[in-house]
Amino acid sequence: MTMQSKSEAELGLAETAKRVLPEGRFGNMPSDIVIREGRGGRVWDESGNEYVDFLLGSGPMLVGHAHPEVLAAVSEQLAHGTTFFANNRHGIELAAAIVEAVPCAEKVRFVSTGSEADLYAMRAARAFRQRDKILKFEGGYHGMSDYSLMSLAPKRPGNFPRPVPDSAGIPESLRDEMLIAPFNDAETVASLVREHEDELAGVIVEPFQRIIPPAPGFLAALRKITAEHGIPLIFDEVVTGFRLGYGGAQEYYGVTPDICTLGKVIGGGFPLAAIAGKAEIMAHFDRSQVGDERYLMQIGTLSGNPVASVAGLATLEILRRPGAYERIFETGRTLMAELKRLLARSGIPAQVTGEPPLFDVVFTDAPIRDYRSVLGGDAAMAKRFNALLRERGILKGESKYYISLAHTAEDVRFTCEAWASALDELAAGNRKKRLAGE
Ligand SMILES: Cc1ncc(COP(=O)(O)O)c(C=O)c1O
Repeated sequence: MTMQSKSEAELGLAETAKRVLPEGRFGNMPSDIVIREGRGGRVWDESGNEYVDFLLGSGPMLVGHAHPEVLAAVSEQLAHGTTFFANNRHGIELAAAIVEAVPCAEKVRFVSTGSEADLYAMRAARAFRQRDKILKFEGGYHGMSDYSLMSLAPKRPGNFPRPVPDSAGIPESLRDEMLIAPFNDAETVASLVREHEDELAGVIVEPFQRIIPPAPGFLAALRKITAEHGIPLIFDEVVTGFRLGYGGAQEYYGVTPDICTLGKVIGGGFPLAAIAGKAEIMAHFDRSQVGDERYLMQIGTLSGNPVASVAGLATLEILRRPGAYERIFETGRTLMAELKRLLARSGIPAQVTGEPPLFDVVFTDAPIRDYRSVLGGDAAMAKRFNALLRERGILKGESKYYISLAHTAEDVRFTCEAWASALDELAAGNRKKRLAGE
């Protein structure tokens, strides 16, 4: 295994970043890596180190970096103008492709980020129901709005359904507008819905929460409870849309929500996201249908941006080809099985959790069912494992392996070798600690 090292040039860039950016970073990845370029399933840092890339830009690059067909579509569009604010052919065609693909999508409204999409989806539910409260799940990620940053990642979880704000600057008064439930616990949701029926505007859920699959029957139970009370069910499919299948998690798990949010893959690596849903809820974006009082105002400078739209359309075309999802799933299945095998061999207690297109390891011997079971894992060990992998040429986010259509058999082989070597070092470190009586 060759270990990565850093050039003066990259260290210099990191220094500049420290001077001009809070935390020396854009807020996402740690500041100690500066990416220079990406191609297919690999990226290179400014020192020229090559990595098998399981970060994939935090998910958008499902078909791989710099895909020739996406590049061709984008280059063609660049020469014809980069943003218009007005309707344009490509945005309209992308909306039509979403309506065709996604079960709940009868109408689509574009925005630029997943955070915005989630904010508007919750607002649409409020406009439709004429109530204020939203139920979300502990550990569920719905972007960065005041409402979403409730019980996303509490270090000390509170008592359900009281939210714990995740950030400074969130008005105290908003706490009462959110109810928090444990993921995969349909009974608690049912009792909260019954108790708060008269105040509840909607339920928002990641159908596959971070790396936790829904327990059998959980999504169907959510669908049933919300439908019985006429409460909109929102699936946040920013991650799962066009990834778990062409129709997203709602197709994959066979449960159709009332509204969903999309992002990442549909912009093909450019800033584009969407709210998509049933016509009667999406009608709130149309003053002529709902009138002044119930109209939901929504404007965005880059909404339906033509460059992002052609990148998204080219990406979807690649994904529609026979065998695309089979290949993504096959790569993911092989990797998950090998990671499980290597972890078992190492003797380190761990669970591999997720679905083949995205998964990770949690260092615990308890099954993973909800946020608290992930919190029970050894986070320091996960961090150490990620760092050892980085040294060995594997790039990933803190808590996810994203699989790409572009990952090759060689990428899989390389990754398994890196896992084996990193686990040997991790296990040796654990033995040393035990001997030292730590
Ligand atoms: C499930 C989910 N929803 C919403 C978002 C927010 O999307 P964005 O980063 O585009 O604002 C993310 C981002 O990772 C996400 O994972």
